[in-house]
Amino acid sequence: MNKRTIAKLCFGLIAILTSIASAQEDDSKDRGKSISESEFLSAVKSSFKVNNDAEWKRFTDPTLTICNKTMDRPSGAQVKQILQREKSSITLPKHGNYMGNWEKGKIWVEGAHGGRIGLPGFADADNPAKPNGANCYACHAVDPNFPQNGNMGPSLTNFGKIRGQSTAIQKYTYEYIFNAKAFNPCSLMPRFGHGEGHLLTAEQIADVVAFLLDPKSPVNLPKRDTP
Ligand code: HEC
Repeated sequence: MNKRTIAKLCFGLIAILTSIASAQEDDSKDRGKSISESEFLSAVKSSFKVNNDAEWKRFTDPTLTICNKTMDRPSGAQVKQILQREKSSITLPKHGNYMGNWEKGKIWVEGAHGGRIGLPGFADADNPAKPNGANCYACHAVDPNFPQNGNMGPSLTNFGKIRGQSTAIQKYTYEYIFNAKAFNPCSLMPRFGHGEGHLLTAEQIADVVAFLLDPKSPVNLPKRDTP
C-alpha cells in the first residue's frame, strides 16, 4: 500500500467518524424534548387516514386510551373497569338469536370492505356503499378451503366441530366477535359490533357465528379436494 492510498483511507475514516459524531449530536439535541398529549394526538390524527369521526372516537375511547397509555398492561382495577364497560356495549340481534345464516356469514368473514383498504381505480376497490366485511382472514385461519390466512389470532378451523353448538358457546362466540375487549381488555381483535360506526351489524355478527358453528358450514367439514 503506498502513502497516497494510506492517506486516502485515513481521510475516509475521519469523514465517517465525523459524520457519526454529528449524527449523534443531532440525535441528542432532540432527546429530552417532549410534546403535549394534544400535540401528539393531532400529529397522529393528521398522518393517519380515518374514515369518519366515529372511527377516530373509537381509537381514542377510554378503553383504548388505557391500553395505549399502559402499553397493553392495564392495572387490576383498570381491567375490571374495561371488562365491565365493554360487556355493557353488547346487544342482541333484532331476531333474538345468536346464530344467523352461515352462507351470509361466509361473505362477511371473507369481505375486506369497511376496512377501506382498496384504492379507488383498482378492481373491487373499497366502496363505502357496500356492506362492511370483517376481513377475519387477516388474522385467523377459518374455512380450510380459503387460499390464505393470517396467524395473529388462533385458528378457527373446525370451531363448531370442537366446541359444539350449545347456547353457551353460541353466546360466547357472538359476544367475542361483538366485542373482544369484553373478554381480553386490550385484545388486538377489532370490536366488530361496538359503538357508533361499528364495523358489523348485530345481524351480520350472528351470521358469522353460524359460519363458525353450523355443522354444515365448510369451517367444520374436511377440506375439499382441489381439482
Ligand atoms: C387484527 C386481528 C384480528 C382480526 C381481524 C380478527 N381477530 Fe379474532 N382474534 C384475534 C386474536 C389476537 C385473538 C386471541 C385472543 C385475543 O387477543 O382476544 C382472537 C380471538 C378470537 C376468538 C376466540 C377464540 C377462542 O379460542 O375462543 C374468536 C371466536 C375470534 N377471534 C373470531 C374472529 C372472527 C369471526 C373475526 C372476523 C369477524 C375475527 N376474529 C377477526 C385477532 C383478530
